[in-house]
Amino acid sequence: MTQRTVETRSAGGFEPGEEPRHGNGEAQGVYVAVADGASEQASPNAAVGSTVGAPLRESGAAAGATAAEALRDGRLRSELASIVVVGATSSIGRAIADRFAELEPRARFVLAARRGEELERIAADLRVRRGVDAVAAALDVTDGEQVDALAEALASSPGRLRGLVLAQGFMTEQAEAERDADAAVRMIEVNYTGAVRLMTKLLPTIKDGGFVAGVSSVAGDRGRGSNFAYGSTKAALTTYLHGLRGKLTSEKRDVSVTIVKPGFTDTAMTYGGEGMFLVAPPEAVAGDAVRAIRKKRAVAYTPWFWRWIMAAICAIPRAVFDRLGL
Ligand SMILES: NC(=O)c1ccc[n+]([C@@H]2O[C@H](COP(=O)([O-])OP(=O)(O)OC[C@H]3O[C@@H](n4cnc5c(N)ncnc54)[C@H](OP(=O)(O)O)[C@@H]3O)[C@@H](O)[C@H]2O)c1
Repeated sequence: MTQRTVETRSAGGFEPGEEPRHGNGEAQGVYVAVADGASEQASPNAAVGSTVGAPLRESGAAAGATAAEALRDGRLRSELASIVVVGATSSIGRAIADRFAELEPRARFVLAARRGEELERIAADLRVRRGVDAVAAALDVTDGEQVDALAEALASSPGRLRGLVLAQGFMTEQAEAERDADAAVRMIEVNYTGAVRLMTKLLPTIKDGGFVAGVSSVAGDRGRGSNFAYGSTKAALTTYLHGLRGKLTSEKRDVSVTIVKPGFTDTAMTYGGEGMFLVAPPEAVAGDAVRAIRKKRAVAYTPWFWRWIMAAICAIPRAVFDRLGL
């Protein structure tokens, strides 16, 4: 599978002005293009001062307001509880934010990823369609200072931090990862160390009843010759989240930890990839993820049948498995 940027497809799999595509082919909303602020309606829960039309600046890989700027501008000053979705420009991250917004309209959504302008559009779309408060915060998870700034902005916000969803990710072809150590390390930095950095910095701020959720992958369940560089980053994330859940439980801290394990999902990451089967729409994965988080489940395979597929794959004896060339 080839990693590519998603310039040709918007995060939700549809372009501004188009009806969004959903797995069942039905349009369930309208993407509202608000880069110029013209088409956004004020919502009852809208953040103080729309991000739309705010001056954008170049920051690292992103153009858009940073978390610190959002705090300074007053956009994080309301007392609403925040749900932070990192990787919110991805189809899965965006769909998770959208599903949460549908179910928890009194929450504030802090949407983070590198592409600030795309985030601004997604935040505006949530404000208009779901009537929630949504703030865009440009963030590169591999940049410690940017993660610190997000953590400080959230800690200074009067609203409590309800939850953190880690949906950022990077995947390059296995052959590329074997040729180019930088590509392999980049996967580790985005998928694992970036996630650890965020959890370490944000966890102290998460209040009772809150949650941490990591979008891991079935690829982390067993190393396969065709995808072990990426799979190992997800295995590390899964192990970290399992351990974190155990620690918080044993300390009787009321913060749940959920590991979401999607199978193949129809997103920019897998677009055009070969050898995929049972490919799920991101909205279905998001629905399962949000249900599992709200039920405080430890692990959610999504769609559900991946639990049994992976159980079968993990049960294959090593001597046989190694010869299969999977
Ligand atoms: N698609 C699948 O089949 C599948 C299966 C299992 C698990 N997953 C996981 O699901 C999650 C969402 O992936 P997707 O398939 O929707 O892929 P995607 O469209 O490629 O999304 C990747 C997301 O990660 C963000 N990101 C990448 N590098 C970043 C960085 N340095 N700092 C901050 N954000 C960064 C991207 O945002 P910016 O580019 O704006 O920074 C984007 O929001 C990932 O964790 C992925 O590993 C996907």
